[in-house]
Amino acid sequence: MSGAIASRGDQQVVAGLDGVLACESAITLVDGDNGELFFRGYDVRDFAEQADYLAVVQLLWSGRWPSPAEHAAFDRQVRSRRGLPPEMLRLIPMQSANPMAVLRTAVSLLGALDPLGDVTSPAAVVSQATTLLARMPTLVAALGRVRRGLPTIAPDPELGHAANYLYMLHGIRPTVDEAAGLNTLMTLHAEHELNASTFTARIVVGTLSDYYSAITAALGALKGPRHGGAIDAVLPLLRDIGSAEAVPAYVDRALAERRRLPGFGHRVYREHDPRAPLQAAVAQRVSADTQEPMLFDMARSLEAELFTRKRLPANVDYYAAVALGYLGFPPDLLTSFIASSRIAGWTAHVLEQTADNRLIRPRALYRGPRRRPCPPPATLQGAPPQ
Ligand code: ACO
Repeated sequence: MSGAIASRGDQQVVAGLDGVLACESAITLVDGDNGELFFRGYDVRDFAEQADYLAVVQLLWSGRWPSPAEHAAFDRQVRSRRGLPPEMLRLIPMQSANPMAVLRTAVSLLGALDPLGDVTSPAAVVSQATTLLARMPTLVAALGRVRRGLPTIAPDPELGHAANYLYMLHGIRPTVDEAAGLNTLMTLHAEHELNASTFTARIVVGTLSDYYSAITAALGALKGPRHGGAIDAVLPLLRDIGSAEAVPAYVDRALAERRRLPGFGHRVYREHDPRAPLQAAVAQRVSADTQEPMLFDMARSLEAELFTRKRLPANVDYYAAVALGYLGFPPDLLTSFIASSRIAGWTAHVLEQTADNRLIRPRALYRGPRRRPCPPPATLQGAPPQ
């Protein structure tokens, strides 16, 4: 098995748990060999451009597509919960902090403020998750504005989830294409099986800890540059390259220096991430009428170059970054955008883990010294005073 680094008897350490099956799940099938992805049995390519993100959330949480009435009721609930409590508003002026650190702190604070925050029944978790899912875009958009010295914008209850997100970020209502594009991006980032942040959330609720603790921990895991944090580096990378013509020489240098280019490579999809072409289509659609149309061509050249040279496929973060850049998201806000979408999957896994829980507690293959003679008590540092 790839990734195995050590074994003793029939015990084997698999570095990075590569390929290890850690639980049974009925939420998502990631078919890495064929480059396919299914939510609850449905191929994402069949619905990512048509389905409303909130309907996808309901599919992930309940296992079936909502009826029109169920979807309308959920949509109403989400719209009514978008406002932020005053304690959270006080966090937003932390302009110099990493937005993901603010988001992580805000979720933890919300847990502390929720009088029912320790209740872990499925109904309580769905209610906590609905509020968090409604509030995250409000918080992310507010962070995006205060960091540019702009006043925050209150949610517009007349707008749907994606349209309102862009409205709170820019203060103007988006076009139909822009809102639809963001909706597709949110759907494609909604869930992805046992990635590092989702596994983290399952570990936390596996101890019977609460939902907010799980999401706070998941945000911490997502922040890292080997996971969601990679996306914040994609636009700076493309702008650093500068033009499609400069791509081959840039790749030469990067590979010679053994640098990892953000937005490329994946633990499971070795050749093709099915989300990338759908995100590329969004990026291309929203690139019209922008000041940086060449960004998309450059992105295409870099994708082709890396695949030809290293067979490294573009991952979910690559074209999402390009599309989000066109939609006016500041480059350092993109991991936070992922979090505001991935809350869907984290919640689905929290519900599934809780429904059939066993504490997650693996073992380590001990490599340290064994049975050493202990120094005399008088020479031990920290011995209690006589
Ligand atoms: N750029 C350059 N080379 C790469 C990249 C990359 N982005 N990704 C992998 N490689 C190379 C490695 O250097 C290694 O080469 P070698 O065999 O010559 O040493 C080979 O490909 C295999 O890499 P691994 O580290 O074994 O792959 P792993 O499964 O551990 O890593 C990961 C997957 C972490 C996603 C990796 O591809 C990476 O670091 N990508 C950049 C960060 C990124 O985009 N992360 C977002 C992932 S998607 C998400 O989390 C939302």
